[in-house]
Amino acid sequence: MKKLSIVYHSQSNTTAKLANYVYSGSKKEADVSVNLILASDANAETLLSSDGIIFGTPENFGYMSGVLKDFFDRTFYQVEDKQLNIPYCIFVSAGNDGLGAVSSIDRIVKGYPLNKIAEPLIISTKDIEQERERCEDFGHNMAAGLALSVF
Ligand SMILES: Cc1cc2nc3c(=O)[nH]c(=O)nc-3n(C[C@H](O)[C@H](O)[C@H](O)COP(=O)(O)O)c2cc1C
Repeated sequence: MKKLSIVYHSQSNTTAKLANYVYSGSKKEADVSVNLILASDANAETLLSSDGIIFGTPENFGYMSGVLKDFFDRTFYQVEDKQLNIPYCIFVSAGNDGLGAVSSIDRIVKGYPLNKIAEPLIISTKDIEQERERCEDFGHNMAAGLALSVF
């Protein structure tokens, strides 16, 4: 069975709500096991044991959250020689356009390397509740792609 990990950080619970929507969407794919995990609890094994990763973060100061950055800082040396090449995508909770958070993640994971398989899902802080379906579809699409080995 393929394994999908959703690695996220949330300071004031908005990204956590989105992460739970993404998680429930991905769980619609019965053939994929899904691991919803805080970035602070995730480690190199999270990456090494996954067939695909979804990163979730608020945009903080035009960047990913410090806790998600810490996850990358802690894991890079342990996985850089493993040539992971697994698919990833990103969702962001932001007051503005969220692009700083996206580009900071994209730049770092080139070194792992991970393969971007979808455009980022950027959710405005104001719109959380009405974006539930879009988040669920985002998670479902990743899980379905893994199940069908299309990435
Ligand atoms: C320290 C800090 C810095 C922030 N910087 C940005 C920013 O640069 N761009 C932006 O769009 N939103 C920014 N925000 C707003 C958060 O991204 C937004 O409120 C987000 O939904 C919070 O997610 P969370 O509840 O999961 O922590 C910032 C919030 C905080 C606390």
